[in-house]
Amino acid sequence: MTAQYKLHRNVAVITLDNPPVNGLGFNTRRALVKGLERALANARVKAVVITGAGKAFSGGADIKEFGSPKAIQEPNLLSVIKALEHATKPVVAAMHSVVMGGGLELALGCHYRIAAPGCKVALPEVKLGLIPGAGGTQRLPRVLGVEVALNMIVSGEPQASELLASLPGQKLFDKMAASNESLLDEALELARSVADTRPLPLVRDLPCKHPLGDAYFQFARNMVGGMSKNYPAPLKCVDAIEAATKNRIDQGLAIEREIFTNLMFTPECKALRHLFVAERATSKIADVPADTPKRDVKSLAVIGAGTMGGGITMNFLNAGIPVKMLEMKQEALDRGIATIRKNYESQVARGKLKQDKYEQRMALLSTTLDYNDLKDADMVIEAVFEDMGVKETVFRKLDEVMKPGAILASNTSTLDMNKIASFTRRPQDVIGTHFFSPANVMRLLEVVRGEKTGKDVLATVMALGKKIRKTTVVSGVCDGFIGNRMIEQYSRQAGFLLDEGCTPAQVDKAVEKFGFAMGPFRMGDLAGNDIGWAIRKRRAVERADMQYSKTADKLCELGRFGQKTGAGWYDYKPGKRDAIPSDLVVKMIEDHRAEQGITPRKISDEEIVQRLVFSLVNEGAHILEDGIASKASDIDMVYITGYGFPIYRGGPMHYASEFGLFNVMQAMQRFARNPMDDAQFWTPAPLIQRLVAAGKTFS
Ligand SMILES: NC(=O)c1ccc[n+]([C@@H]2O[C@H](COP(=O)([O-])OP(=O)(O)OC[C@H]3O[C@@H](n4cnc5c(N)ncnc54)[C@H](O)[C@@H]3O)[C@@H](O)[C@H]2O)c1
Repeated sequence: MTAQYKLHRNVAVITLDNPPVNGLGFNTRRALVKGLERALANARVKAVVITGAGKAFSGGADIKEFGSPKAIQEPNLLSVIKALEHATKPVVAAMHSVVMGGGLELALGCHYRIAAPGCKVALPEVKLGLIPGAGGTQRLPRVLGVEVALNMIVSGEPQASELLASLPGQKLFDKMAASNESLLDEALELARSVADTRPLPLVRDLPCKHPLGDAYFQFARNMVGGMSKNYPAPLKCVDAIEAATKNRIDQGLAIEREIFTNLMFTPECKALRHLFVAERATSKIADVPADTPKRDVKSLAVIGAGTMGGGITMNFLNAGIPVKMLEMKQEALDRGIATIRKNYESQVARGKLKQDKYEQRMALLSTTLDYNDLKDADMVIEAVFEDMGVKETVFRKLDEVMKPGAILASNTSTLDMNKIASFTRRPQDVIGTHFFSPANVMRLLEVVRGEKTGKDVLATVMALGKKIRKTTVVSGVCDGFIGNRMIEQYSRQAGFLLDEGCTPAQVDKAVEKFGFAMGPFRMGDLAGNDIGWAIRKRRAVERADMQYSKTADKLCELGRFGQKTGAGWYDYKPGKRDAIPSDLVVKMIEDHRAEQGITPRKISDEEIVQRLVFSLVNEGAHILEDGIASKASDIDMVYITGYGFPIYRGGPMHYASEFGLFNVMQAMQRFARNPMDDAQFWTPAPLIQRLVAAGKTFS
């Protein structure tokens, strides 16, 4: 049963009951309409109350039906709302907790509305590249006024019910209940008090105007257009709301429907919907069911108070989990604590953190120089130097002191997690937690599952990732895991492009126009070009077959490591981060070409973008085939949350699927014929070849 029907004397109560948030899926809609028909047919029933069981009134569309025909199967939400408006007995929406999307649109179709305090009220469709499609753009302005409704619809952000109830002249709520507990009784009382009222009030009958008319919408378009450059939906929200002010409601509803349907097919909407599902899918691991038992992690130890150790620690303090940091020397601990304090103090200064919260968080932090002090921690994360010898010393020590059942994690970005686990007598308790820098800011957490990592350990760390508000993606063990293994191919292509005729600024500009937050060379300057240099030196021994442009090494030989040395691919003015194209670097590249006997050619932005993005795609396909990532959508989440891939393009694998894998494969074959490039790399991954042959995509 997805909606319960119960009589409370002369009032029928229909309770939506589709956990977790009473999504308005087909079965729920059908049960709701059946309940309504039953109430209308029963002469004893004088009024109807609709409410939600559990944690929500309704969170809107049922995500399990996303994109499936069931989402629009009759009775669809529009028909349900029509049935409510035509009801011959008063219908009261009794709202609590979550009132979002279709849930709010449903309530706007009822004759009366009562809300408990603390409801989160929103029309969040814009976040999926859509506008509300079941009357939200037409009815919300009628009850809250055009401006408030426009702000809510364009931002998609939830507002508290008590705030909305306090707005002068609002007609969203007829009454506020005292509490969640009293909501039903107060709703029944309201229903009985209006049982004989006729005609029944309808939101659709309310007027909808803005006193400034066109001038207001002109202003709104300027504001919204400036803030939503690559996303069509926000401006379309303005169009739909303007239509509400200029048309009779049925015409307005038809306009809303048309806009909604057209938006569904835009690449931006497809990308956003893909990512919405992808984000939720990251925690689904085929052989680790949701009910896998988890270990208790109530306290944490962090080894190393450097760049990463400090950032990692902050995540846990923020989540209320006590952390003990261990270092080799007191000075290192003092430096680490000072950096954490500085970070929090800047948040306090910017009004992002309250002073008392800051103090509470710092009170959860303690330090030590002695491993014996860590023995009671439920989990330890190691963030010491990236050196197998150092990791070995640390893990052997941890194996000695940590209590049985403690989880031993490493933040290594390149080293073999299986080998690290082998330094202990409990490899089942060892796992990789690869945070991204700055670790207290970046959303991505790659969880590295070793050969012997226990399922309960994996399940625990995935849940912990959620608790500290990370997007947590599982990766198998390989050099670079998912993200860095792919970025290496991308960087190699960026280097070849310099050899062949591009400048760093040209490559960066093309990629930034595509939508990346930063091109590869600006990124290198920010992260430090010496990191890649060290990796290439190691590679020269381990993988001599891997070719690189020599330009990056030459840059590092000049000491141009990036922003931290005041010069990299670009020049920097002291204390500034603006990248200024460097004549010296351009000359260095030209000299390099001359030495190699290369005649430069003009390279189009299209070629630049395709070589960079499709290099990610080809390596991503190998990663899938090798079982390092279990789904293409996980790779997309890694690139969106960790590498600044444009959100509205949905991640590299989604982008390739939309571009057409046949076209992607053709481009790869073209690049393979370029004698300056790596023909072997550009052989399309077997997975891509198979998908093209079968006419399929990554999804
Ligand atoms: N910096 C990044 O962008 C980044 C990103 C992801 C992962 N990582 C990984 O995180 C780890 C740490 O990197 P970082 O950038 O924080 O390095 P860092 O040099 O800033 O910090 C390392 C800290 O570890 C301490 N340390 C070294 N040996 C120790 C030992 N035996 N016992 C206790 N403390 C010891 C050092 O004193 C230093 O404070 C590395 O494995 C690195 O590959 C770094």
